[in-house]
Amino acid sequence: MVSLAAVRRRQVDDNRRTAFSPDAMSFEVADTLDMSTPAAKRASYELLAAQARSLIEGERDMVANLAQFSALVWQSVPELNWAGFYLARGEQLVVGPFQGKVACVRIPFSKGVCGACARSREIQLVEDVHAFPGHIACDSASNSELVLPVVVGDRLVAVFDLDSPRTARFDAEDARGFAAAVQVLAAGTDWA
Ligand code: SME
Repeated sequence: MVSLAAVRRRQVDDNRRTAFSPDAMSFEVADTLDMSTPAAKRASYELLAAQARSLIEGERDMVANLAQFSALVWQSVPELNWAGFYLARGEQLVVGPFQGKVACVRIPFSKGVCGACARSREIQLVEDVHAFPGHIACDSASNSELVLPVVVGDRLVAVFDLDSPRTARFDAEDARGFAAAVQVLAAGTDWA
């Protein structure tokens, strides 16, 4: 088992190593984050938010930041089969930058887990998508889902959607962790 102190030490090292270097044009993403214990998970989400901050530092372009954020999550968070954005366009969501299999392009606010998130502006944590009325199955491998609203001022600009092949992959700690990282992204981006 990895101790919290060890994870923190690694976090400091990783932050040093990952400071964005425009000259080198490189950014080293941490290895697969350790989510094996509640303490390791908390430290891992702190690292994810710090990496998101470093990754988008000095860049406010929406497409660039959303693409980079999706890739960061995809590379470092275990047990995902889709991670990305749906952008709010009127009463519909339109697919944005993501990682994973091709997905549904448009989702009305009235449909699916993403629509429920857009409507309510509340995090949707679905342990078993097959038990969620109206769930939209973009990938039959998905068994659980976490969707977070991206709100800037009083405007819903997008939702961030995560799918996992493992039932009950996400818990309240994941929701808190992703909410913090999404907050970093929301504040550092000019939303079109
Ligand atoms: N499952 C989502 C649709 C989007 S895909 O999972 C990428 C939903 O029910 O809204």
